[in-house]
Amino acid sequence: MKNLKLIGPITQLLTLDKLPKKGALKDEQLEILEDAGILVEDEKILEVGSFHDLLKKAKSLNAETIELKGDLVALPGWIDCHTHICFGGNRANDFAMRISGKSYLEIAEAGGGIWDTVTQTRKLNRVELAERTIINANTHLSDGVTTIEVKSGYGLTVAEELKMLRAIQQANSKTSADLIPTCLAAHMKPRDFEGTNQEYLEMISTELFPILKSENLADRIDSFIEKSAFSPEEIESYFQKAKNLGFDLTVHADQFTTGGSAVAVKFNAKSADHLEASTETEIALLAKSETVAVALPGASIGLGCAFTPARKILDQGGSLAIGSDWNPGSAPMGDLLTQASILATFEKLSTAEVFSALTFRAALALGVEDRGVLKAGLRADFIFFPAADYREILYQQGKLKPSQVWKQGELVSDKQ
Ligand code: NIG
Ligand code: FE
Repeated sequence: MKNLKLIGPITQLLTLDKLPKKGALKDEQLEILEDAGILVEDEKILEVGSFHDLLKKAKSLNAETIELKGDLVALPGWIDCHTHICFGGNRANDFAMRISGKSYLEIAEAGGGIWDTVTQTRKLNRVELAERTIINANTHLSDGVTTIEVKSGYGLTVAEELKMLRAIQQANSKTSADLIPTCLAAHMKPRDFEGTNQEYLEMISTELFPILKSENLADRIDSFIEKSAFSPEEIESYFQKAKNLGFDLTVHADQFTTGGSAVAVKFNAKSADHLEASTETEIALLAKSETVAVALPGASIGLGCAFTPARKILDQGGSLAIGSDWNPGSAPMGDLLTQASILATFEKLSTAEVFSALTFRAALALGVEDRGVLKAGLRADFIFFPAADYREILYQQGKLKPSQVWKQGELVSDKQ
């Protein structure tokens, strides 16, 4: 038996349909349906349209009608295409040092940085790590984030990376959000590895990659290209091996120094993320490519650094997504909508550009194009904000939370 339901009426329904994958957008390009409804069949959208018309259809199909009250704006569920929400401990100590003016090097010397989180993550077992991941995923879900990419990268041995990815897999089966795992074993060479960067990457690609495939733990390989992590040359040969095995690629690129985005484009990576240090050369390269540029305003806010040049990327024709980078070090806040609203004020992004960056353009970055738009055949992942005008959402800078979150046709968070 099919599960059919009609949900509405909705004051404004933003489909995010019929918009280009790349380039600048104006709010006038948004498709807005007024007094709308969403007809759902099992986990998919059967139709969006006028509530009045869909009521008749629902009757003929014997669908259940779920009548909503008050003004509501509907959007596709947010997609966060870059997080590190699977971790142990916290880095409050780093943050306190940073805001009192200590440098990255001083913090690392005092035992902080990524390595501190590696130590704390290794202390937790798989079940404990999964529990922490579920808590973070559910927080995101009630803020309207229905699909969440989650990276490993705080294990940094074959066994510890496997523990993280299995914890993410376990968490995925216990939260209503969709978790999309990414292997970030190339986050940094672990301090306890006796060998070169190349030897570390060689070990990961020969020993870990085959298990990722056989246990279906991740289809995506990420790397941190940076002076303190890996060079472009080191990652090129690592990526070649990953590509030969059929993995999708993504890069932590141009965060402090350039070099990463060129590798991302060369390997046709799904996305190049960070880009705070990108210059005109990198922006032009990205804009011409199919690689989605991912801005991570949470890291800029957490570190007190420049924002990704999102305006320039869009104006030159690039595709822009926005991720939270939620992690215990550089981006502890984890509030995607707040961060996106702040990026919009500094970079002068239109509402259409921000909503696209949080929905179908983020789906593109993850290669999950079965969601991110409200139209027939796609996943019934949608969120309702208690507002009469969609522009109130960014105006409230994250303070306005969704009153309802629907995931694959089911109500998973209800604050109405
Ligand atoms: O995306 N840039 C490198 N990695 C993370 C930070 C991780 C951490 O500090 O724990 C990032 O910002
Ligand atoms: Fe990151």
